[in-house]
Amino acid sequence: MKKDRLFHVLEAQQFDRSWIEKILFPQADKFRKQIETNKKITPYLKDKSICLLFYEPSTRTRLSFQNAAMLLGANVAATENAKEFSSAVKGESLKDTIRTISSLGYSAVVIRSDQEGGASEAASVAKIPILNAGDAAGQHPTQALLDLYTIYRQKGKIDGLKIALVGDLKFGRTTRSLSYLLTKFKKIKIYFVAPKQFQMSQDILDFLKEKVVEYEQNDSLSKVAPLVDVIYLTRLQTERLKDKNTKVNADVKINEKVLSLINKNTIVMHPLPRNSAFNELPEEFTDDKRVKIFEQVQSGLYIRMALLKLILS
Ligand code: NCD
Repeated sequence: MKKDRLFHVLEAQQFDRSWIEKILFPQADKFRKQIETNKKITPYLKDKSICLLFYEPSTRTRLSFQNAAMLLGANVAATENAKEFSSAVKGESLKDTIRTISSLGYSAVVIRSDQEGGASEAASVAKIPILNAGDAAGQHPTQALLDLYTIYRQKGKIDGLKIALVGDLKFGRTTRSLSYLLTKFKKIKIYFVAPKQFQMSQDILDFLKEKVVEYEQNDSLSKVAPLVDVIYLTRLQTERLKDKNTKVNADVKINEKVLSLINKNTIVMHPLPRNSAFNELPEEFTDDKRVKIFEQVQSGLYIRMALLKLILS
């Protein structure tokens, strides 16, 4: 990343720790406080327009980017099912779509691609900033930043934490991006908790080794739960499985027993959506004090406002 100014947001490893702590989080804090106290928000982006180009389904990421841009005074255009309703269906390449959006005078593109590397491909021809809002099973850097901000706000620090990343680690992009970000901090230990066929990919394990970050692989949340400060659950990414009816009966879910094992200060996170069939975080635990899923959603708004302001104003 350039020291002076952020342009594209493509992958979690591009950020450095001091930028996250000294620039991004303080800016997100400012917006959080303004919103919490109903203060007027300066329309930093009043002459800007943001294009949301989504080739895969989304609720939180799309709506939070949209609201973040609008709260800062920008215009927003959104194509929420670009796979079906854009010229992609007529065979247009992603590069041409991006060239078109640039030519129309938009200030930035937030893209959720159905191809791994899609955001980087877009950036390769874009004259305007590209923000990766998830590229298939690749990365989801803005989610990782909001997850990190949530952990920081809830635990008061990141250094020294023990974090369990749980569920479908093979196809989930949020845990990949979060793993990259966690390597920026000291004395972190990551527990990858997943059945064998859904374990974290080797490229991430290699990266952790290179950065000398301690990790352990396990298939039992009950075993790991009492040891950690953060439990980060994920759903089964059924849309990326060849066999859509794959049944996984594994100890990677929250239930009474697991909750009874965790420390009272341990927090439970999930990027959402949680899956009611797999039931990794049952509805009945939504209001448990340790469950921070909607704090994550709120962090998403503040972090995305901060990113848009830092990139565009
Ligand atoms: C996640 C995503 O899209 O990767 N959702 C999100 O952005 N909050 C998680 C998921 O789909 O499982």
